[in-house]
Amino acid sequence: MNKRVEKALNDQIKKEASSSQYYLSMASWAESNGLNGTAKFMYTHSDEERFHMLKLFKFVNERGGRAEVPKLEKPPHEFKSLNNVFESLLEHEIGVTVSINNVVDICLQEKDYTTHNFMQWYVSEQLEEEALARTILDKLNLIGTNAGGMYMFDRDMENSLIHVNNENLDTQ
Ligand code: FEO
Repeated sequence: MNKRVEKALNDQIKKEASSSQYYLSMASWAESNGLNGTAKFMYTHSDEERFHMLKLFKFVNERGGRAEVPKLEKPPHEFKSLNNVFESLLEHEIGVTVSINNVVDICLQEKDYTTHNFMQWYVSEQLEEEALARTILDKLNLIGTNAGGMYMFDRDMENSLIHVNNENLDTQ
């Protein structure tokens, strides 16, 4: 595997693993603040990020590279509000999109069209994730500080707007 592509993919593995930890931290905050629907959403989202990480991990090894288990920093533990949680999530996902685009760019520069093709799944996924975060933030902005609205919001999150991508880890 091209060394520059391998390094970019290993950097992305770290980003996906960090995302999983970050959303787990958000799940913990939500659960300890009685927001069980939001907590469930975040646990699911954290699992989804681990899946994103594993899919890259397998791909690197199958292509003759070496996937590395990254060292992770502790994610933020406190959030000011539910809005702040989802604003942080959107900001984080925008950063992940930049990073995915960077990997795609390196694939093109190195003429690695197989990895470029593989990365298209992540490009689509980022589009969905950013759109979902924006939809949720729009809802929260509509609710404002209304306690009843907040209760309904959290209950809706229990029935989750997000789907865990249960696709298998096939890298083809
Ligand atoms: Fe795997 Fe939410 O980006």
